[in-house]
Amino acid sequence: MSDDDPGTAVRRDRFSGGPARKFLSSLAADEAIFEADLAVDRAHVVMLAEQGIVDSAAAGEILAALDDVEAAGHAELPDGEDVHEAIETAVIDRVGPDGGRIHTARSRNDEVATCIRYRLREDLLDVAEATVAAREALVEVAGEHAETVMPGYTHLQPAQPTTVAHYLCSYEGGLARDTERLLDAYGRVNRSPLGAAAFAGTPFDVDRDRTAELLGFDGTVRNSTDAVSSRDFLAEAASALATLATTLSGLAEDLIVFSNKGVVELADAYASTSSIMPQKKNPDTLELTRGVAGDAIGEATGTLSLLKGLPRAYNRDLQRAHASVFEIAGDVREATEVAAGAVATAEWDEAALAAAAGEGFSTATGVADLLATGGMPFRTAHEIVATAAETVEDGDSPGAAAAKVDEAARKVTGEPLSAYVSREDVESALDPAESVASRDSAGGPAPEAVADELAAAEAGIESDGDALAVERDALDAANEALDAEVDRYV
Ligand code: ARG
Repeated sequence: MSDDDPGTAVRRDRFSGGPARKFLSSLAADEAIFEADLAVDRAHVVMLAEQGIVDSAAAGEILAALDDVEAAGHAELPDGEDVHEAIETAVIDRVGPDGGRIHTARSRNDEVATCIRYRLREDLLDVAEATVAAREALVEVAGEHAETVMPGYTHLQPAQPTTVAHYLCSYEGGLARDTERLLDAYGRVNRSPLGAAAFAGTPFDVDRDRTAELLGFDGTVRNSTDAVSSRDFLAEAASALATLATTLSGLAEDLIVFSNKGVVELADAYASTSSIMPQKKNPDTLELTRGVAGDAIGEATGTLSLLKGLPRAYNRDLQRAHASVFEIAGDVREATEVAAGAVATAEWDEAALAAAAGEGFSTATGVADLLATGGMPFRTAHEIVATAAETVEDGDSPGAAAAKVDEAARKVTGEPLSAYVSREDVESALDPAESVASRDSAGGPAPEAVADELAAAEAGIESDGDALAVERDALDAANEALDAEVDRYV
C-alpha cells in the first residue's frame, strides 16, 4: 500500500514531511507506549465490533494485523508522526483499506491520553511496590536494633540518644506516606479517556464504559474535553515521585554521614572505589539516590511548567509531557530498590554507636527532664543543665558529670541537686541507654514504644501490599479478558 493511495495510508505527504519532520515526531519516544497503544487499539476494535460500528470480519483482520505488528516490534514500525499513526499505517499495509476502520470514532487525542494512563499505571505500581519492599527492609533491620543506642542529631549536632530501630522507623513512616501518595495518584490515573475523540465526542454509538472495562480502567474520564486535555495526573504522579525521591535522599544523606562517622559500613555491593586512590570505599549508590531526587523535582516542576496556561483542548505541547515522567518513574523505582538494598545489607557498628551516643552531653535534655519531674520549673532545670554543659566533657564518668550538674544547681538556685532528685537518678539520666529507655511516650525511642511502632508498620506494610496486589491482579485479569475477546474475532 503506497502512501498516496487515497483514503488508505495515513496522510503525511502534505503535512509533517518537511524539515520539521523529526521535530514533530514522537515515534522514538513512543516506544514506551507501544504495548499500551496495541492494547488500546484492541479494546477499541472489539468495542467497535460489539457495537456494530465495524463488522466482525474487518475487526478480525485488524486484530490479526495488530498481533503481527506486535510480533514485529516497535523497531519495525513504518515511519510516522507517532506510534498511533505508524501502527495504523502498519495495519493498513497488512489489511488494505479496511484497516483504516481502526480509527473510526476516535482521535489520536483520546488515544494517546489513554495510552499514557495505561503505561503510567504499571510504572506507579512498580514504584509503589518498591516502596513497600523498602519499608520491609527498614522494619526488618529495625527489629534487629531495638536496643542499639545511637546518637540522634538535630542541625547535625549531637542532640539526644535514640536507637537505630527508632531512627529507621522514622523513614518507614515517611515511605508509608509515599506509598499512600502513589496509590492515591494511581486511582486518578486509572480512568479511561477513550471515546472522547478529538475533544468533543463522536456521533458513533461508542461504549466508553466497555473500552474502559476491557483496558482494566476503573471507569472513564467522562467529559470528553477534560478527557483529552487533562494531564494533571502526570503532574500528580511526578509530584508523588519527587516527594518519594526526596524522602530517599534524606535517608541516603544520613547513611553517607553515618559512614563518614564510621558508625555504619555499607556492603561492598553498594559502594564504589576510586580509580586512583586504592583505599577508597565511597557511598556512590547513596549519592546517586540523593541525585535522583534532583531530577525528580525537576520533572515535577517541568511537568507543571509545560501544562501551565495551556488552552483547552489538545495542544501539541502535550506530546512532550509524559515520556520523561515514565523515565523518572524508572529512576525513582531503581533508587528505591537500591536504598532498600543498602539499608538491608549495611552493618551498624554497635560499639562505635554506643560510644558516640553520649557525646556532646547528649543526655542533657534527659537530666533537665528529670529535675523538672522532681518539681523544678523546666526553665530553671534548663538553666542548670546549660550551666553544667559549659564544663561537662566527653569521657566524664557519670559520677563526674553528676557532680558538675550539682555544682551548677547550687550556682543557679543556691540549693544542691539532692533537694530535688537523688544522685543515683541523675547518674542514670546521664546514661544514653537509660535516657532512651525513659522516653517511652507513644512513638518515642524506648524499646517498648518502638515495638508498638514496628507492629503498626508491619500491619501497614501488609495492607498496602494487599492493596497493590488487588490493583496488579485487576490489570492482569483485564489483560487476559481482552486477549479472550480478541480471540473471538481472530
Ligand atoms: N503524538 C501525539 C501526542 O503524543 C498524539 C496526538 C496528536 N494529536 C494531534 N492533534 N496532533 O500527544
